[in-house]
Amino acid sequence: MALRNILKEGDETLSKRCRPVTDFNDRLHQLLDDMAETLTAAEGVGLAAPQVGILRRAVLVLETNVPEGESEKLIELINPEILSSDGEQEGPEGCLSVPGVYGWVKRPDHVRVRAQDRFGEFFEIEGYGLTARAFCHEVDHLDGHVFLEISDHIMSDEELEEYYATEDGK
Ligand code: NI
Repeated sequence: MALRNILKEGDETLSKRCRPVTDFNDRLHQLLDDMAETLTAAEGVGLAAPQVGILRRAVLVLETNVPEGESEKLIELINPEILSSDGEQEGPEGCLSVPGVYGWVKRPDHVRVRAQDRFGEFFEIEGYGLTARAFCHEVDHLDGHVFLEISDHIMSDEELEEYYATEDGK
């Protein structure tokens, strides 16, 4: 495995629409393994292939809603599609491609996603809260969008501090 360089906002790769993954081969597995290492090292909750310069529809999302005592797990989603969404959440959202910047973004609170695994098998998965936010954020990357486009307010350090002080570190 190897760490890959995370492209930063302003790189035109991040505004391109990604093509579907069609070959579920060793090259894809290497990409996913490298993305996992890169995401973990950066302590993020999601990473999309275009962020490491690969214009293919593959993302990782960290499922943080796990029972006490269990470790968070990385979900690999190839060619993900949001089937349905409901509810609403609002809060600060960030991105490894836009380091240090958090914007207020509204997202659904619950989404159902259909995707393929690294071997091409289809599955469906649900996400709530932060996981729903991450699914939406990562799928947006595959269509060339970053959260700054839908944020109605970039938060100041003071606002962030206040938010996290009152939100119990969520
Ligand atoms: Ni991002």
